[in-house]
Amino acid sequence: MTILDGKALSNKIKEEVKSEVQDLQMKKGITPGLAVVLVGADPASAAYVNMKSKACKQAGIYSIVHEMPETISQDKILEILAMMNKNPNIDGILVQLPLPKHVDTTAILEAIAPEKDVDGFHAYNTGRMTLGLESFVPATPYGVMQLLKEYDINPEGKNVCVVGASNIVGKPMSTLLLNANATVTTCHIYTKNLKEHTKNADIICVGVGKVNLITEDMVKEGAIVVDIGINRLENGKLVGDVDFENVSKKCSYISPVPGGVGPMTIAMLLVNTIKAAKLREERERKLND
Ligand code: GUN
Repeated sequence: MTILDGKALSNKIKEEVKSEVQDLQMKKGITPGLAVVLVGADPASAAYVNMKSKACKQAGIYSIVHEMPETISQDKILEILAMMNKNPNIDGILVQLPLPKHVDTTAILEAIAPEKDVDGFHAYNTGRMTLGLESFVPATPYGVMQLLKEYDINPEGKNVCVVGASNIVGKPMSTLLLNANATVTTCHIYTKNLKEHTKNADIICVGVGKVNLITEDMVKEGAIVVDIGINRLENGKLVGDVDFENVSKKCSYISPVPGGVGPMTIAMLLVNTIKAAKLREERERKLND
């Protein structure tokens, strides 16, 4: 069994990003910038935002965090997004999810300029990604694809079971795998017999937030298991959705939690941010030509 070491790969990618940022500064005179919007005081969201802005700093990316109270109106968030859309120092805008109930998440995501949508959650980028066109790709599934590639795992022709169908993880994960010519089954809370599907899979990607959802009897011998879940146990320990101890004995490859997909998500956000900066520079150059 081989561990899919997301920590190691993310460090490599972050180093590459850092040197690309230095290149962009030296050769083009631009510093990529990321704006993060955090609404409310959810500790998990605050922790993610903190990790994202720390990673930006380490890579030399300019970052600002707009913290807003839970009670802020939707119009006020839209106002701030409109300002950031116009701000030439900001290449990427990310609104940390989930948003409070009184806010229409779709309306907020659609208010981000598609060329600054480094989370890839805008319908424009989702649509383009689905068509297999150039787009911003959501960081978590993008990170999973990079992790598989690093270990020479080609999904083409494989039976892949994606467990979870959220807009930010499961759906884009299934789309990317389908675009990579895998035979994809997407399972979710309405799926009747989950085991029937996981047992048939060469690759299982699971991200629903349920401790020990995937047990050893649900996994084929030699399968590849990618754990996208993040759960904090009462004792403070971080675990995924897979019963790692027992499932790992049956796998050919498995990603751990922590140290698997989590660090890859942050790394791919940085990759998307410098991509946005490069595209901006290209657009400006064309205008000046
Ligand atoms: N909440 C959980 N994951 C994510 C993510 O990747 N991006 C944003 N914006 N919010 C999230």
